[in-house]
Amino acid sequence: MRLIKISDYDQLTMQLAKPIYDGKGRVLLAAGNTIHPKYLTKLKELGIRYLIVEDQASTGITLEEMLEMPTWMGAIQVLQDTYETILKKQQFPLIHVQKVVGQLLYEVKRRRAILLIPTTSLAEEMRPYGHAINVTLLALQIGKYLKYTDLQLRDLALGCMLHDIGKVKDPSEFGHPTAGFEILRHIRELSLLSAHVAFQHHETLDGKGFPRELKGDSILEFAQICGVANFYENHISKNNLPPHEVMEILMTMYGTKYLEHVVEALIKGIPGYPPGTMIRIQDNQEAIVIRIDDHMQRPVVRLLDTGQVLSLSSHPTVMITGIVESEEYQE
Ligand SMILES: [Fe+2]
Repeated sequence: MRLIKISDYDQLTMQLAKPIYDGKGRVLLAAGNTIHPKYLTKLKELGIRYLIVEDQASTGITLEEMLEMPTWMGAIQVLQDTYETILKKQQFPLIHVQKVVGQLLYEVKRRRAILLIPTTSLAEEMRPYGHAINVTLLALQIGKYLKYTDLQLRDLALGCMLHDIGKVKDPSEFGHPTAGFEILRHIRELSLLSAHVAFQHHETLDGKGFPRELKGDSILEFAQICGVANFYENHISKNNLPPHEVMEILMTMYGTKYLEHVVEALIKGIPGYPPGTMIRIQDNQEAIVIRIDDHMQRPVVRLLDTGQVLSLSSHPTVMITGIVESEEYQE
């Protein structure tokens, strides 16, 4: 299976590999079927831009680095409910939230690499929650590579899940971190550390972030992790950039915007060329990434014309020169 742009969907050669949900989180289309053109139009109307499909080119690719759809959707729905209880000033649903945190932690720990399901595979109204869950997954992956304890990972995850909660009170870019801090610090069940993640996730080392223009050491490492994860997720999901490009941008922010070891941990834990990506290698040969083996950034690929399987980690001189994009990719 592989991730494709909805405009690249071909009814004759592709089957849906993961279910699609509507804006209420109900299954709209089950996996295993082809998508009727009428439905395809409906999905586009819902704002869905990506699909996960099974086709001949992606045979044998499992995307096991991705969460199962029901797990991901379940987390998204708990978060959506949590936003509502906070808005209505009801009791904070700590048990439900902690259960999700435990689940995400389990999912991250049992995988070496993490692959995000882009929020653009969701109906528009679910996206803010999908974004927060993805940021949490990335943050946990970074924390895992930084050898955090379970207790630390749980506080980090709580802060990341709720990092944008301030938007329920103040949707503005500059106001939501402070609004979020004000909400979270009054929830007795939460550690103050989690509240500070919301407060500081837009601060950067150079003091040019917001809301307080904090500098260097005065920014918590947790908030830096959330900031890097947030940056990465936004570029993947909203701006449709491929992972390796976002990583390159992040590498230019080493030490000026974000802590070097935090960015490095992300690069260790996220494949720049995820399974299913069509890439170009030297001599202009086209290949599809089939799995991540012993090196996160040097995947195993299958050449499209000959079907030959090549592990790029044992062929260090074979360079990846770019990714293959269909015309429709350039929307
Ligand atoms: Fe934010």
